[in-house]
Amino acid sequence: MTRDATPVPVPGVMEVPDYFQGASATPDMADPVKLSSNENAYGPSPAAVAAIHEAASAVHLYPEGSAQQLTEAIAKYCGLASQDVLVSTGSDDLIPTLMRAFMQRDDEGLYFADSFPKYRTNLIGLGAKPVEIPRDKNRNYALCIDSVSRGLTARSKILIVDNPCNPTGAILNADELVRLHAALPGNVILALDEAYVEFSDIGDAGLQLAKAHHNVVVFRTFSKAFALAGLRIGWCTGAAPLLAAMQRLRPTFPLTGVCIHAAVAALQDRAHIEQSISRLRKTRSHAVSRLRDAGWAINEPHGNFILLRAVENSPMSIEAASRQLLEHEILVRQLKIQGDEPVLRVTVGTELQMDRVIDLLGQSGG
Ligand SMILES: Cc1ncc(COP(=O)(O)O)c(C=O)c1O
Repeated sequence: MTRDATPVPVPGVMEVPDYFQGASATPDMADPVKLSSNENAYGPSPAAVAAIHEAASAVHLYPEGSAQQLTEAIAKYCGLASQDVLVSTGSDDLIPTLMRAFMQRDDEGLYFADSFPKYRTNLIGLGAKPVEIPRDKNRNYALCIDSVSRGLTARSKILIVDNPCNPTGAILNADELVRLHAALPGNVILALDEAYVEFSDIGDAGLQLAKAHHNVVVFRTFSKAFALAGLRIGWCTGAAPLLAAMQRLRPTFPLTGVCIHAAVAALQDRAHIEQSISRLRKTRSHAVSRLRDAGWAINEPHGNFILLRAVENSPMSIEAASRQLLEHEILVRQLKIQGDEPVLRVTVGTELQMDRVIDLLGQSGG
């Protein structure tokens, strides 16, 4: 051993790509509007905010590790048994925990092209092999369920699908989910990331699949419909042996007491969550029809965001649209999908914010 030897990270760690968060406001912006991270502009339930204040006086105590109160509230809300619910610090923690529990180095994890970029990153960080399944090229962003079997090998362990998909907004319906599951051998886990499901029409199709099969896990989050992204709260459900393995790797105290109380209050305020979802869906369909009228190509969105493509009669290019919005301090996300096509992902904000977006993107030559 020599004194000048240096510590070396394990293989794979330094290949983990940086995660580019949605653009944030800069100090020189007077009145920025952030529509770049699919946050919920309508805000959390006032009952959840009150619960945060109330729980603040107890932060000298460790929280209850299993978050029983919250798992029971989630179970009640979704028609599950509380022992079938596992909570942690967002999907950001739960998804890699599932991977760590069921994958070894060089195992393969499958995901569809143009889905949430974190899946690939998580797999690389584990030293596992990311396997990308192509999407239908006909620009409706449909998933090629038939291509899944071509991507499977003896080392495949997980197929992860965001449903609805970020950024395309596309969704698999209940029948397609059943077909997708049927394409997998029993030892491959179907991981359904339902971060945006509350904004869609598929209801509990994913939860039903997880109830019926031993190899399905569904991830949900409080970051989107419940507007608690800043608290970092997520949960998942699946067969008992899957959750038992994940639980062993989960932090001892996965959620703070403040988070537990806020999430319980948010679940109990049904009126707020229902109003928030219906308001978002209404604003989303208004924005989609106005932006389509202005010449943008937009597939039917199922999350809390809209994906714009420039076509022949669009008023400007995607790059110009992004610039135009930025000049007016509206931050959105410019991405490339289907290989090299630039697209714009715009989070659905308040009615006023969306009216500004519609005005700015409806002006030709911007
Ligand atoms: C598809 C998808 N899954 C998961 C997340 C993150 O969820 P969480 O805030 O629970 O970590 C996001 C956030 O944008 C997302 O788009």
